[in-house]
Amino acid sequence: MAMTADGKIATANRAVHSFGSAWDLEHLYELRATADAVMCGARTVEVAGTTLGPGAAKFRRQRLKRRLAEYNLRVIVSGNGSLDPAAAIFKSQVSPIVILTTARISKFNLKKLQTVADEVRICGEREINFRAALRWLKTKWNVQRLLCEGGGALNDALFRADLVDEVHLTICPKIFGGRTAPTIADGLGFPALSDAARFELTSLRREKAELFTVFSRRKRPE
Ligand SMILES: NC(=O)c1ccc[n+]([C@@H]2O[C@H](COP(=O)([O-])OP(=O)(O)OC[C@H]3O[C@@H](n4cnc5c(N)ncnc54)[C@H](OP(=O)(O)O)[C@@H]3O)[C@@H](O)[C@H]2O)c1
Repeated sequence: MAMTADGKIATANRAVHSFGSAWDLEHLYELRATADAVMCGARTVEVAGTTLGPGAAKFRRQRLKRRLAEYNLRVIVSGNGSLDPAAAIFKSQVSPIVILTTARISKFNLKKLQTVADEVRICGEREINFRAALRWLKTKWNVQRLLCEGGGALNDALFRADLVDEVHLTICPKIFGGRTAPTIADGLGFPALSDAARFELTSLRREKAELFTVFSRRKRPE
């Protein structure tokens, strides 16, 4: 995730979603080149127009060197299937697209998404059961390492399910402000300090005006 110095990942009106440097973009593709699958939420797919592909040939070569498939699997999360089938991602046919959804999806939306995705998987009643969904992705699509690229609602669900091993956070020297501007983890959050997801800073690198950080999960005390 790219984050402003005041902790935002987009402006409050969602008009600005891309604000990292060329280094940060390169870093994003390098991370994609380490993952079997790249995932993001429905609103990110629509607002940011992301296609979640591996990018230029050099990143695809990195993938092959690591014995990964040349093109990563693409995973989209949409609880009620409200996703727009005209979104840019569906026009890019580089690799399979899997949509994770819930039993809340209408028959109409299910049919609509089945025409644009390779598989639509119902994983939960009202909320996606991510533990079960990731287990299924591993078994069915051989996903060992999954990169989630947000947005805040999806990230929050993964933090709450305790499924995040690493957070790669680029801190950019900008301030967006705005009470309703999204952050790296929105959604419901944790009610108490004792419940908070815990991480430790395991890497810190300055590249020109940005800080590239990695936070790794700390095990909860027994
Ligand atoms: N700076 C960055 O690095 C970065 C990266 C990514 C995104 N962004 C920004 O983040 C914003 C989007 O974030 P967002 O939080 O609004 O949306 P989001 O997380 O991209 O997508 C939210 C949607 O995903 C589905 N979803 C998420 N968690 C779910 C769960 N537990 N169960 C069922 N469905 C679930 C729901 O889809 P349905 O409504 O279809 O049910 C929900 O409305 C955009 O402005 C984007 O530009 C910034």
